Amino acid sequence: MASSSLTGRNRALFSVSTLLLCFLLCISEQSNAQSSPVFACDVTGNPSLAGFRFCNTGLNIKARVTDLVGRLTLEEKIVFLGSKAIGVSRLGIPAYNWWSEALHGVSDLGSGTSFSGQVPGATSFPQVILTAASYNVSLFQAIGKVVSTEARAMYNVGSAGLTFWSPNVNIFRDPRWGRGQETPGEDPELSSKYAVAYVRGLQETDGGDPNRLKVAACCKHYTAYDVDNWKDVHRFTFNAVVNQQDMADTFQPPFKSCVVDGNVASVMCSYNQVNGKPTCADPDLLSGVIRGQWKLNGYIVSDCDSVDVLYTNQHYVKTKGEAVAKSILAGLDLNCDHFTGEHAMEAVKAGLVNETAIDKAISNNFATLMRLGFFDGDPKKQPYGGLGPKDVCTADNQELARDAARQGIVMLKNSAGSLPLSPSAIKTLAVIGPNANATLTMLGNYHGKPCKYTTPLQGLAETVSSTYQPGCSNVACPEPDIGSAAALAASADAVVLVMGADQSIEQEDLDRLDLYLPGKQQELVTQVAKAAKGPVVLVIMSGGGFDITFAKNDEKITSIMWVGYPGQAGGLAIADVIFGRHNPSGNLPMTWYPQSYVEKVPMSNMNMRPDKSKGYPGRTYRFYAGETVYAFADGLTYTKFDHQLIKAPRLVSLSLDDNHPCRSSECQSLDAIGPHCENAVEGVSDFEVHLKVKNVGDREGSHTVFLFFTPPQVHGSPIKHLLGFEKVRLGKSEETVVRFNVDVCKDLSVVDEIGKRKIALGHHLLHVGSLKHSLNISV
Ligand SMILES: *[C@@H]1O[C@H](CO)[C@@H](O)[C@H](O)[C@H]1NC(C)=O
Ligand SMILES: *[C@@H]1O[C@H](CO)[C@@H](O)[C@H](O)[C@H]1NC(C)=O
Ligand SMILES: *[C@@H]1O[C@H](CO)[C@@H](O)[C@H](O)[C@H]1NC(C)=O
Repeated sequence: MASSSLTGRNRALFSVSTLLLCFLLCISEQSNAQSSPVFACDVTGNPSLAGFRFCNTGLNIKARVTDLVGRLTLEEKIVFLGSKAIGVSRLGIPAYNWWSEALHGVSDLGSGTSFSGQVPGATSFPQVILTAASYNVSLFQAIGKVVSTEARAMYNVGSAGLTFWSPNVNIFRDPRWGRGQETPGEDPELSSKYAVAYVRGLQETDGGDPNRLKVAACCKHYTAYDVDNWKDVHRFTFNAVVNQQDMADTFQPPFKSCVVDGNVASVMCSYNQVNGKPTCADPDLLSGVIRGQWKLNGYIVSDCDSVDVLYTNQHYVKTKGEAVAKSILAGLDLNCDHFTGEHAMEAVKAGLVNETAIDKAISNNFATLMRLGFFDGDPKKQPYGGLGPKDVCTADNQELARDAARQGIVMLKNSAGSLPLSPSAIKTLAVIGPNANATLTMLGNYHGKPCKYTTPLQGLAETVSSTYQPGCSNVACPEPDIGSAAALAASADAVVLVMGADQSIEQEDLDRLDLYLPGKQQELVTQVAKAAKGPVVLVIMSGGGFDITFAKNDEKITSIMWVGYPGQAGGLAIADVIFGRHNPSGNLPMTWYPQSYVEKVPMSNMNMRPDKSKGYPGRTYRFYAGETVYAFADGLTYTKFDHQLIKAPRLVSLSLDDNHPCRSSECQSLDAIGPHCENAVEGVSDFEVHLKVKNVGDREGSHTVFLFFTPPQVHGSPIKHLLGFEKVRLGKSEETVVRFNVDVCKDLSVVDEIGKRKIALGHHLLHVGSLKHSLNISV
């Protein structure tokens, strides 16, 4: 209808002018960038505030929150349901922007953080998928600790908030996912360990008081979120159909660990629906699980802006007020963006949600800010008050970024005599490829501004004289300049090709359609390798894996390395590995599938387990038994490690209560809960596995010991499952004993069809590399 389309256009004009207004305001906000932190209860500046109980640091947080909430009008309360809280000046509460990000370094992607003259950049660590490949839990925590120090330093000069919506702990379920790069990979155990360690690094204060937070972390995106934009499937409208079994043993574990073991201060619900309900409006998932079962101490925040999305895109509710009401009643405390601020009053007036529910939500938000010291007066006088620009991008922090990158780098192929290159034997090195001189690409998404960059070319050229040809104008590589690249390769003693992807290939809101190297990269690589006279090292810079079967099988390509998106010091780390100053010890945190896999499997099928009747092959190393290009946990080193089992039981007998049904009749499995689990007598429901690990090569190196188990085939159990891993560093000929404590009910259990943990009875197989040990669990 003509009239309505006119209204539509007016609305569009109106929003353009609001945007313009906002643009101008934002500019002026930028130029007035403050140099002091925002905080409440400035009793020095305003002595009258000292009388408020919520400012009294001697009281407990609960009492302070209750006092504060009791002083607010409904209008004022609604302000604190949204991420851009404008504050309440009569109570000395300034505006606070909740949205900051620190996925792998302080980022300015969230509007609560910005770089400025005072702090022009922050240490940019490798994208998470590469850090995960180090399998080094102390590294995960060390990075988190540096990031929170830099974050506090930036907060102190008014450049950042205190609430960071990181990490992303979704399972990297499908190789095409554009955000797989942000995650710790496909394995629930690794993802859980990563979540806990990174969150501790961000949150834990030096004093170790659990009531205080250094900064507040956030595990996201809850839950079963791992499709962005694939064919006609979009995250805003995608309904992830997830069975209870996959939910319990694949999608939920990282979140559970993050809350229960990591004590995270926040969880973010996702855009997608799970089994027909938007996650941000699902009371079972939010109040029921996160708060009820896992006992979150903190706040639940929506993705930006999931509450709007469930109304506008999903049409899940009829009115905007209803969207607000349903999400708050489900357990949401904070909405990223302004939708709740605009529509909460409508919801209250319509009787869809009452003030008590709003009080509950804002109380969780306030309690978090109180644990951060936001209501404790001048931060300069608090712990971390001495941090400032001098503590950002320090030499040590930048060295950790370099170390993290080299600890993660995975060597996938290395023909005898190829790597490491000996600098004295190389007069010229040809460095070729669209990522050979990469800067921003090395950071991956959710980046900030790095302290500085060292590109692969710069890193390699520090050691040997290097020549350079990009070979393609960009990673899409539509028309490679094969002639120049091949000529360069032919004139050099060795060749390093730096290929792969960037954010134009895989990113938020962009999933891949195939697993091939983009454009004509393969042709360039093959022709360059053919022309080369010495070793050819193929370096893949990417988040997701590629089908590089051609390179694996090409004898002219003597080495292959995957470097993720290696962060600001990526070029140094790559050179450290190529010239052997660092012995590679990274292992893939995800399966590299052949192209045929994605031709068979729709990205939108969430099922982890294979379905033979439909030709569905299953997902990840736990359930997919087909061909891989490279497998989960693959990774080579310049030395060699041997394992020897020195202790593991052959038989574990669980003692059941007299009246337990499995005493009288045959059972395939037992509940992984009950007296037989609690009477943890050593050798009864838990046991030790001891392995001797020896470095039998001729140089020092680090090595991850992976302990997998294969349970009996009941309840569609996994082919194998990582039950623990431990990274050790060993000098030449050095050996050590690695000990795993295995709790039968926790670590050796499987999840049944309705999502319950069970101990399968019968023959289990433990594996470490090629070593296998069989173990019988009986009653
Ligand atoms: C407010 O709403 C909640 C949730 O619907 C309900 O349990 C509670 O009794 C209500 N409180 C008041 C004071 O009406
Ligand atoms: C490599 O990139 C750096 C940083 O952008 C730039 O300064 C340099 O000129 C580039 N080198 C070549 C050979 O293009
Ligand atoms: C793990 O990382 C830490 C921190 O960077 C490092 O000191 C340690 O050597 C690493 N461990 C191994 C076994 O490589």
